[in-house]
Amino acid sequence: MSMSATANQRSTKMVDYARTGPGTAAGQYLRQFWQPVYHSADLAIGKPVPLRIMSEDFTLYRGESGRVCLVDARCPHRGTQLSSGWVEGDALRCFYHGWKFAADGACVEQPAEDSSYCDRVTLASHPTQEYLGLIFVFLGSGAAPELPRFPEFDGFGGLIEIDSYLRECNYFQNVENALDMSHVGFVHRDNEASYNGIGRGAQLRAEESDWGVVYTFARADGQLRVQQFGMPNIFYMTALPTDPEIGWQESLFWWVPIDDVQHMQFGLHRIPVSGETAERVKARRQERRMLIDTAHQHVAREILRGRVSLRDVDKNRVDLVRLQDDIAQVGQGRIADRDHERPGRADTGVIAIRRLWDREVTARENGGTLKRWTRDAKIVPRAWGLATASLGDAAATATSPSFVDVRPTVEIDIQLNAMHGDPLTR
Ligand code: FES
Ligand SMILES: [Fe+2]
Repeated sequence: MSMSATANQRSTKMVDYARTGPGTAAGQYLRQFWQPVYHSADLAIGKPVPLRIMSEDFTLYRGESGRVCLVDARCPHRGTQLSSGWVEGDALRCFYHGWKFAADGACVEQPAEDSSYCDRVTLASHPTQEYLGLIFVFLGSGAAPELPRFPEFDGFGGLIEIDSYLRECNYFQNVENALDMSHVGFVHRDNEASYNGIGRGAQLRAEESDWGVVYTFARADGQLRVQQFGMPNIFYMTALPTDPEIGWQESLFWWVPIDDVQHMQFGLHRIPVSGETAERVKARRQERRMLIDTAHQHVAREILRGRVSLRDVDKNRVDLVRLQDDIAQVGQGRIADRDHERPGRADTGVIAIRRLWDREVTARENGGTLKRWTRDAKIVPRAWGLATASLGDAAATATSPSFVDVRPTVEIDIQLNAMHGDPLTR
């Protein structure tokens, strides 16, 4: 089914994609899918953290067996924050009066109660899984579906970079931006890479696939670039190389709301290098992580306040692309106003995503049948000139990927603060 849009075409009444708190239509839909919410590397054994996901608060911890547990934010006794408690085995003991809860949320001890009533007290607990260096959780009702796998990544013999950033606006602006190619030549005009014919955004096609939307655009010479959007908030694309020794790379992204005005992008980059080349690439990546002293989020605010111009920003910032996208997306407002916009033909990808969301969220609200999104080996990205033939070479020489965390040091700090939230505003 073709979903190309005519200028200023509006789909039927749009659902509210932006609000994802408990009980909202979009929030209930998103909760039916596994979502990445944290980096495995950031969660040490025995150190619980408060975690905010889709405007809901939780406690995330790693038990002594290594198991990851996600439970309520507050103790059912008298409500103190459970992240201040102690991990004992895989259980969690409250800081205030020592009630103890097993990993499945069952209350197993009430030290000050003569006759304990544990069997009548539980914490809600949610399924978790670690995969590709990320912690995935399922917050939906009913049994969790199988966690979708990405064999291109977990069976890859090269290098996988694990990445993420915080953006201080609603997640759906970033979802829409995935299939908005005409922004590249403007938002990213300073980047050499954007001139590789990507940025003009003409000749765009967006069609429904088994997984979401296949988004194709043709360059003047007829070469195609194909990107894959996965419902409800995943994107799989071929990216331009960011290192002299990398011929091509693929990226997989998820956009996950912390609340309605800020979200995380979790990302994995698949890079076909191994052996000594991989070591050299890794070393350069480690250097890049230290090179940023001011977070892109702060620079974007200064630019949007009119105090600084992007012209004044060092063009060699390794997170320049993020800063540029911050300016465009946060510049739409913390929650974009979709009631007064004027979409055109080049917004065909944005409209395609909205139509699927409208259809599925409405079906869910009305008790209708939802599409089961699946991805097979044919639903992969492709891009001109970035031959993926070298994939085979790397995959043949090793059996599992080598992972490297590439988040800039300042980014880690800022995103953990946002995900953990401010205790004084809870
Ligand atoms: S508030 Fe947790 S044991 Fe009292
Ligand atoms: Fe962008």
